[in-house]
Amino acid sequence: MNLNDDSTLDATFSVPFQHRLHFTRDIFHGEQSVLADCLEPSGEQLPKVQFWLDRSLLDHGGTLRGDVQRFIKDHSARLQPAGIHVAEGGEAVKNDWLHTERCLQAIHDADLDRRSYIVVIGGGAVLDAVGFAAATAHRGIRLIRLPTTTLGQADSGVGVKNAVNRFGKKNWLGAFAVPWAVINDAALLATLPDRDFVAGFAEAVKVSLLKSATIFESLEQQATRIHARDPAATLPAIRASALLHRTHITRGGDPFEALEARPLDFGHWSAHRLETMTRFSLRHGEAVGIGVAIDTVYSSLVHGLDPHDATRVLQTLRTLGLPLDHPQLHDTTALLDGLEEFRQHLGGRLTLTMLRGIADPIEVHAIDEDAMLEAIDRLRRAGRSDGDAVAERAPETMLT
Ligand SMILES: NC(=O)c1ccc[n+]([C@@H]2O[C@H](COP(=O)([O-])OP(=O)(O)OC[C@H]3O[C@@H](n4cnc5c(N)ncnc54)[C@H](O)[C@@H]3O)[C@@H](O)[C@H]2O)c1
Ligand SMILES: [Zn+2]
Repeated sequence: MNLNDDSTLDATFSVPFQHRLHFTRDIFHGEQSVLADCLEPSGEQLPKVQFWLDRSLLDHGGTLRGDVQRFIKDHSARLQPAGIHVAEGGEAVKNDWLHTERCLQAIHDADLDRRSYIVVIGGGAVLDAVGFAAATAHRGIRLIRLPTTTLGQADSGVGVKNAVNRFGKKNWLGAFAVPWAVINDAALLATLPDRDFVAGFAEAVKVSLLKSATIFESLEQQATRIHARDPAATLPAIRASALLHRTHITRGGDPFEALEARPLDFGHWSAHRLETMTRFSLRHGEAVGIGVAIDTVYSSLVHGLDPHDATRVLQTLRTLGLPLDHPQLHDTTALLDGLEEFRQHLGGRLTLTMLRGIADPIEVHAIDEDAMLEAIDRLRRAGRSDGDAVAERAPETMLT
């Protein structure tokens, strides 16, 4: 090797990751080993384990804090306790930097290292915020996620993204980090209010529309039972959605979203915008339901999605109990700014996913603004009536 030559020496390398995903029915009452078995010794030492709990789980008079204390006691031969902390629930934890600072401080004070574990038990927002602190402290501490919302179990908890909001923008500050393990425990969903419970299924509808007509059909058929929280319908739907998301991440070739397209963000350009426009009074899942509905109607107007299928999508979202209309949809100028925000987040050209059919996505780089306004208008009308979907009444001229 001549070390004096001016030359370019590029090298491609890959790093194998393991994504551990468990489904359990009640981790703290009978299935403790699922969590305990995730903890590897730290050399000769027991690993430090720090817990972060979503405050809402304690507000509901549940036994979670006691359950965690008992887990720690039962496993004193396998771990060193490094504290049980409580994080604000919901978007508040991502909006205020003080929460992140407090989390980093607790990690520092407990001297956690890169072989320690942070176990976070909470909704998608708490997972995102604590996950961000875990991903950045020491450049990455092992994170075990126990999502406690349907959205967390069906989508975000399985993913590799962690983020908080800055400058009034969603997920502006964040890090990609593969969680050490994800444990989807059905019992943790018990206290979730109905509104949040159904909201998570918007992401299940979204991913099925991108990846699997069979799973979309099953969601369509089971929508009433899902709305009624029948576990025989909800658990398989969560599992199917989690696995579709997981397969996309592990097999889709772009886990860290370096490419232009972000297919899992179908419907999200408007969803993220609606969340900020409504000052987060809309749940992320609710905003995604509306965003998916907008892009579905738009797809039927512009990209050849069968209007009958668009109707089925809207009907499924409605049967699940998701809103299709919101007063902020009137402010179309502000809403359409979401397109530019979405583009800026990734850079390069605008790239959105639309549908030619169910499970037949297409990448597009431009939006027909008139057709988009028409789609939003039709959705608002569909959201106000519960009659047949507007997509079926598309004027011939719009159906290209
Ligand atoms: N990282 C990702 O890939 C990704 C993907 C999708 C969404 N997200 C993010 O996830 C967040 C939304 O997450 P979410 O839908 O889980 O909502 P959330 O975390 O905002 O939770 C909603 C409310 O329910 C409470 N809660 C959580 N679990 C509960 C339970 N079992 N019982 C009672 N109350 C409970 C929370 O404290 C909160 O008040 C958004 O910030 C969104 O941006 C991230
Ligand atoms: Zn989402």
